[in-house]
Amino acid sequence: MNTPKSDVCFDFLSTRKRTEHLCLPLELEDFIPQPIPDVSPPKWHLGHTTWFFEQFVLLNFESNYTPFDPNFLFFFNSYYQNAGERVARNLRGTLSRPTVKEVLNYRQYVTSAVEKLLINQQSEDILELVTLGIHHEMQHQELLMYDIKYIFGMQPAQPIYGNSFELTQELQAGWKDVEGGIYEIGAQNEGFSYDNEKGHHQVLLNDYSISQALVSNREYLDFINSGGYTDFNLWHDEGWATLQNQGWKAPLYWQQRAGNWGYFTLSGFKEIDLHLPVQHVSYFEASAFAAWKNCRLPTEAEWEVASPLFSWGQLWEWTGSAYLPYPGFFKALGALGEYNGKFMVNQHVLRGASVATPPGHARKTYRNFFAPQSRWQFSGIRLVK
Ligand SMILES: [Fe+2]
Repeated sequence: MNTPKSDVCFDFLSTRKRTEHLCLPLELEDFIPQPIPDVSPPKWHLGHTTWFFEQFVLLNFESNYTPFDPNFLFFFNSYYQNAGERVARNLRGTLSRPTVKEVLNYRQYVTSAVEKLLINQQSEDILELVTLGIHHEMQHQELLMYDIKYIFGMQPAQPIYGNSFELTQELQAGWKDVEGGIYEIGAQNEGFSYDNEKGHHQVLLNDYSISQALVSNREYLDFINSGGYTDFNLWHDEGWATLQNQGWKAPLYWQQRAGNWGYFTLSGFKEIDLHLPVQHVSYFEASAFAAWKNCRLPTEAEWEVASPLFSWGQLWEWTGSAYLPYPGFFKALGALGEYNGKFMVNQHVLRGASVATPPGHARKTYRNFFAPQSRWQFSGIRLVK
C-alpha cells in the first residue's frame, strides 16, 4: 500500500475525532438504547471502533501494551470468533456499564497509544492495519448515523439531531445507454480497498440503459397510491411475506398524519419533499418498484461500468446482485478474514455512497451489502432497462 506514515497518523487522529464529533448532539441517555438488534447503541460504536485498534494493532504490535480494561475486549468485540467471546449482539443495549464517560476515556487511552506507536514504529504491517482500522471506523461513523436516526425516529418525542446529512434534488435526468461488451470491474492497486473489492476481473454485459437520477419521492408516492404495496405480483415471495408480517405500507420513517404522508428526518418530522430521492427502502421494495416501472435494478457490474455517467453519493443504491466473492477472492487467515467473507450469503450488494459516508471513504468499486429486508440504512433506487 505504501501510505506515508505521517498521512496515516493524521488520518487516524482526524477519524477518531470525527466519531466523537458526530455524537455531540446526543444527550447521555441517547447513547444507550438498542431498539432492534440491527441498531447498536452509540456507546457501543464508540467502544467497538476503539476495541478494533486495541485488539488488532496494540495487542499485536506494542510489546509493553496493557489493555485499558481486559473486560472491554469482551464488551466490544462484534463478530470476530477468532478474537474470543463477546456480548451477544442483541444485548448491547442492556449494558448501563461501562459508562459513556469510561468509554470516552477508553477512546482517549487507545488513541494515544496508537499515536505513540505510529510515531515510534514504521512497519508496513502496522500502517496497513491502522489504515484498515481507520476505514472500519469510517464505516461505523455511517452506521452510527443510521442508528441515531432509528433511535430518535422510533420514539414518540422524535428528537432533532440537526440539519446535517440532508438530501438534495438530483440534478440530472433521463437515461444513458451503455453498449454491451466486455468490461473490467473491481479494485486495482490504487489506494485503499477492502478484500471483497479486490480481484479485478472481466464481465460480459448486454446493452442497457441506466437512469441518471435516483427514484424520487414523487415517483415512489405514485407507486404507493397506485397500489404498489397491495399487488403481490410485483413482489418477491419473501418480500411479500415481510411486507405482511411488518405491515409495510411505505418506506421506513414515513407516517400518514391527517391523510398526508410525512417522514421523520434527522432535523425532525417533515412533509414529504417530492423532489428528493426516496430513501429507507429495502431490496424488496426497490425490486417491487422497479417491476412496477417495467424496469429492473442494475447488476453491480452494470452499476460500476456506468458510474462515470451519473453523479452518486446521496444514497446507497440497491443492485440486483447477490453479495458473492469475486473471482480470486482471498480470505485472510484469522480474525481479519472474518471482516467480509463470512457474510457472503443472503445479502444484496449496494453501490455508491450516501450523505452519511465519511469524506474519503467512497469509491466506485466499494461493495456495501445488507440483507434484503433491511431499510434503516440510507438506501435508494436507480433503475435500469
Ligand atoms: Fe465493526
